[in-house]
Amino acid sequence: MPHIVIDKIKKIKYPVTVDDVEFLFEAENLIGVKTKKAKFLIKVLKKEKGFLVKYDKITRPLISEIKKAYKAFVKLNGANIIFENIEGIKEKIPDKNLLDITSDLSDVDIVEVGFGSGRHLLHLAKKYPDKIILGIEIHKPSIEQVLKRCIYENIDNIRIINHDARIILSKIPSNRLHSIYVHFPVPWDKKPHRRVINRDFINESVRALKKDGFLHLRTDSDNYFEYSLNEFLSFKEIDLKVQKNIPYEVSSKYEDRWRKMEKDIYDIYMINHTISDELVEDFDFSFECRLKNLDFAPKIYDNFVIHIEKVFKIDDKRELIRATIGNFNRPEHIYILNQETPEYFKSPAPIRENYLAHIELKRIFNGCACKS
Ligand SMILES: C[S@@+](CC[C@H](N)C(=O)[O-])C[C@H]1O[C@@H](n2cnc3c(N)ncnc32)[C@H](O)[C@@H]1O
Repeated sequence: MPHIVIDKIKKIKYPVTVDDVEFLFEAENLIGVKTKKAKFLIKVLKKEKGFLVKYDKITRPLISEIKKAYKAFVKLNGANIIFENIEGIKEKIPDKNLLDITSDLSDVDIVEVGFGSGRHLLHLAKKYPDKIILGIEIHKPSIEQVLKRCIYENIDNIRIINHDARIILSKIPSNRLHSIYVHFPVPWDKKPHRRVINRDFINESVRALKKDGFLHLRTDSDNYFEYSLNEFLSFKEIDLKVQKNIPYEVSSKYEDRWRKMEKDIYDIYMINHTISDELVEDFDFSFECRLKNLDFAPKIYDNFVIHIEKVFKIDDKRELIRATIGNFNRPEHIYILNQETPEYFKSPAPIRENYLAHIELKRIFNGCACKS
């Protein structure tokens, strides 16, 4: 982790600006920093020899911004650097094919969930050169490999998001997708709540698919096949096609392995006939009033969680709250600057579970009606 060690720190009166870097507040050992491109926190820790200055992982910006902040912080304190490990760290150029949870997904035509080695994703991109293919994957090395292949093979209709597919699907506009592919998902026999296919996912698929669009599940797991078939069948109106051991147009790495072991392979095609209501995404993440009576017990609801983890004091009127909120399986780390009108120092992504958690957070901690 890029950090520096400096010989001394001074008592500073915040806010203060040095060389275009604003130091906003000090909340115990955290310092709020704002540059032209980013807002983040740095941490200052007293060591045997000097003071270690490093960045906070939750709000981590690009290395270039961290370097600017470290430099300005050294100047602000009139300090000398005893040790640094940031020289020569290369900035990763953001890849235009790599999206994030805040990206606009309205031009996506096809989704592949958990693409792994990416064989099928690359096949889709070549088969449908006029369509935008979105691959959603939680495994970073697979993503890096596929992004390299896109450059190498000059493919420009693939987009990739590193996130849980069950959350991303809920951000795709309604009646938009030609198809959704879920090939050889992890069966999670011991942790079924982690399975990609579940009622919410099928619901969101029906909503996001065009009329006559389809979801294709291919699996080698007898258990997962039976479980998924039952999940699909629990829907009132559904058009399903089921196949067993039918060769597919491209064989993935997993498929090759299962074939050698002579395992059965199942396909379920769910064809959508519904025209769904438009997706309403109007998430207001503001607060009206200072949060009060904070407690640290995790709060678990049907669709989301709220967990206040730590509170860092700034002064008599302000504090910085660190919390995790949002989807139970993929909660997000956030910071709230708690003051007369609180604001997120690091905002949650604009998705439904985070919004529900935000509303509940305000309700339980006085954030929407200023009771004295
Ligand atoms: C068994 S591999 C199959 C990979 C590929 N589809 C194939 O057929 O070779 C399952 C993949 O799904 C990914 N995955 C698991 N859960 C996921 C989720 N909730 N969202 C996105 N990707 C997920 C895993 O990281 C893994 O790469």
